[in-house]
Amino acid sequence: MGENYIGLMSGTSIDGVDGVLVEFDGERMQVLAHAHRAFDPAQRAELLALNTPGDNELHRAALAANALARTYAQVVTELRKRVPGPVRAIAAHGQTVRHRPGQFDGIGYTLQLNAPALLAELTGIAVVADLRSRDVAAGGQGAPLVPAFHRARFGRDSEAVAVVNIGGISNLTLLPGDARPVRGFDCGPGNALMDLWCLRHRGLPYDDGGQWAAGGTVAPDLLAAALRDPYFALPPPKSTGRDDFHGAWLDGLLAERPGLHPQDVQATLCELTARVIADDLVRHLPATTVLLVCGGGALNRELMRRLQAALPGTPVQSSAERGLPPLQVEAAAFAWLGRACLHGRSGSLKEVTGAAGSRVLGALYPA
Ligand SMILES: Nc1ncnc2c1ncn2[C@@H]1O[C@H](COP(=O)(O)OP(=O)(O)O)[C@@H](O)[C@H]1O
Ligand SMILES: [Mg+2]
Repeated sequence: MGENYIGLMSGTSIDGVDGVLVEFDGERMQVLAHAHRAFDPAQRAELLALNTPGDNELHRAALAANALARTYAQVVTELRKRVPGPVRAIAAHGQTVRHRPGQFDGIGYTLQLNAPALLAELTGIAVVADLRSRDVAAGGQGAPLVPAFHRARFGRDSEAVAVVNIGGISNLTLLPGDARPVRGFDCGPGNALMDLWCLRHRGLPYDDGGQWAAGGTVAPDLLAAALRDPYFALPPPKSTGRDDFHGAWLDGLLAERPGLHPQDVQATLCELTARVIADDLVRHLPATTVLLVCGGGALNRELMRRLQAALPGTPVQSSAERGLPPLQVEAAAFAWLGRACLHGRSGSLKEVTGAAGSRVLGALYPA
């Protein structure tokens, strides 16, 4: 008989919450249910606003965290309706509003809004939260945290597999399949810039299937300028967020290139996302036999097409082809990390995050 955990992920896209209920049996795991709940527009706007300095933000952050816990609890209710029975714990990522590891005083911080105590009260289930800060305290980036799970779920002996999660930001996991350590890092913008441009010009939260981008033409000068951002040339370990790639970043580039057609900008942003991932893969694990794509970006057909075009020798596949649909991967990873916490096992990989050591991640709020 296995142990059931719930993983809740709300990433930098700020689109909403993906939750999965996962059964673990030894090293085996199976997703028994997936539920998604979109943020309502006011909630999304406030979470987005809290990503930049603003008025009375401690108060607003506390209330936004409570609202997030209520949304999380709705997702938990939905999952438990589909799969009744005991749940050992919920692992709740929280909503990242600042990500500045290693900066300022040398340790810096990563900040996820969350109200784990309220979530434990609302659900009656133990909650594991604050999964990133321990790695930052140990001198790491606090991100990405999913590579250990990617290895457990997608790794193969004697085969070099790469996994890219394309959320608001994209992060790459390299599984060499030999004695070399697993590596992973944030590549740069995933969907976040495409989403904001699509909202601004079409009033839609994202470019469904990448259809709008597909009708545009890449602006080479804009692409080249974007690719000159120093982040892309930094060696890993590295991680990023909306702190680095935001509307003002894009507006700065566009101000120097007036008159571009919005649809061509969308095509360029799509190509940018594909190019940084492809360049990173070629640079760091050229022998990769397959690139598995997860996160909402896997549903953007134009992005997938551009990624494959940029990597002619490497098959680019949705994670669904290895049995885990793209929108379930990150949430399942956090369920896995929550379980690691309860079992006293480390969840981070020091080779990935650059921390002094791998650590047990998270804090427990008992049922
Ligand atoms: N059908 C689709 N077509 C194009 N893009 C999509 C589609 N579905 C989801 N996405 C993209 O995926 C994003 C959500 O991905 P997700 O993995 O949840 O990211 P995050 O972890 O940052 O929240 C959306 O904001 C959107 O950009
Ligand atoms: Mg999301």
